[in-house]
Amino acid sequence: METIVSLCKRRGFVFQSSEIYGGIGGFWDYGPLGVELKNNIKRNWWKAMVQDRDDVVGIETSIVMNPRVWEASGHVQTFADPMVDCKSCKHRFRTDDLKPNEQGELRCPDCDGELTESRMFNLMFKSFVGPVADDASTVYLRPETAQGMFVNFDNVLTTTRRKLPFGIAQIGRSFRNEITPGNFIFRDLEFEQMEMEFFVMPGSDEEWHDRWIQDRLDWWLGLGVRKEMLRLREHTKEELSHYSKRTADIEYDFPFAGFSEVEGIANRTDFDLKQHEQFAGRTLRYFDEPSGENIVPYVIEPAMGVDRCFLTVLIDSYVEEEVKGEKRVLLRLKPELAPIKVAILPLSRNEKLTPTAKQVWDTLRPRFMTQYDDAQSIGRRYRRQDEIGTPYCVTVDFETLEDEAVTIRDRDAMTQERVPIANLVAALREKLGEHTIQ
Ligand code: GAP
Repeated sequence: METIVSLCKRRGFVFQSSEIYGGIGGFWDYGPLGVELKNNIKRNWWKAMVQDRDDVVGIETSIVMNPRVWEASGHVQTFADPMVDCKSCKHRFRTDDLKPNEQGELRCPDCDGELTESRMFNLMFKSFVGPVADDASTVYLRPETAQGMFVNFDNVLTTTRRKLPFGIAQIGRSFRNEITPGNFIFRDLEFEQMEMEFFVMPGSDEEWHDRWIQDRLDWWLGLGVRKEMLRLREHTKEELSHYSKRTADIEYDFPFAGFSEVEGIANRTDFDLKQHEQFAGRTLRYFDEPSGENIVPYVIEPAMGVDRCFLTVLIDSYVEEEVKGEKRVLLRLKPELAPIKVAILPLSRNEKLTPTAKQVWDTLRPRFMTQYDDAQSIGRRYRRQDEIGTPYCVTVDFETLEDEAVTIRDRDAMTQERVPIANLVAALREKLGEHTIQ
């Protein structure tokens, strides 16, 4: 984990938020390479969940919503963790994380001080709308994107004239005042979610749930994550969220904590739509022509975090190997996820090579995410690209000036292939794959 954190910082994937002020726990910034990887993950999900399917549409809703939404959803009453404070050092812990000592008492794990009684702590961030900070102006930063889909159920239904089953998907920021954020970007206070609410006929929910669990597992495998590092885990009755009839988590075997949740697929039943009907005083129903009835659909929800997926992909693709007695570090990212698709490397910083290398870069730059690097030896530059997962390096050498061809070097096999500059774009397109966002 330390290796990954240091790679992220050194190469510009992830920085501590407000680092020059000492940072702020649970908040992170994504650097120039990080934002590319994150965008590639989001595009990949959107393509699989919205673009490739004929039964899901996307939306984007506001982070701050009418506070009644969170009363209806149950979050005001139940979205809380039990916590205790240390009376001496004032550190705060989730009660669930603490183990009794040999005397069977709970003491502060940091200073052995006495702890307060356990009390429930609501995880929603509060703020105020307008100039007066009182109860009437209290709002919350959303703790899940899902409610934006539920409250827009009718808008989407009438504007798109969908038939059941159909889904509404969204990617967006969520906020939780987690008591114990940590493990780098695994548990944050501000994070990004990718969620989809799939509305189905009551009675068909269990079958759809099974189908979505399989689909989502396949998506993770399609990202290139190793099969043996993933598993499915059913929630126990005690663990189930207040809205769920059954939830299956997809878990990844993280080096710091073992198998932990990266995505949850829940059967939310008709809980949310019914709650909003009651609290908003509006019907949120679907007219089923064959039966002539207005029904409240059931909902299957695959919900995942972008940041957690980012961490999974980095850890899973990280490889250290020995090449000719030297350590080589590489990210074996699928080309579609790689932040940089092609690096352009003149053999050396030589005035004869530079104009041609720059010309090659000009040709490739609008078509692929590229990087130009002419600093230090070619071997070191290959290693730098390997470490950030760049699938292909294009090398311009002295022969290029004679034969108008360049070398394409493959990250994984380290093989090199000579290609005429005239065919370079086509050759790279073929290697990177049709679906790689270029
Ligand atoms: N709408 C359902 C829902 O929000 P969840 O299991 O609480 O369910 C879904 O969250 C996903 O969001 C998780 O599987 C995880 O990937 C991500 N997630 C939740 N809390 C997070 C946090 N504090 N930091 C980063 N990611 C988080």
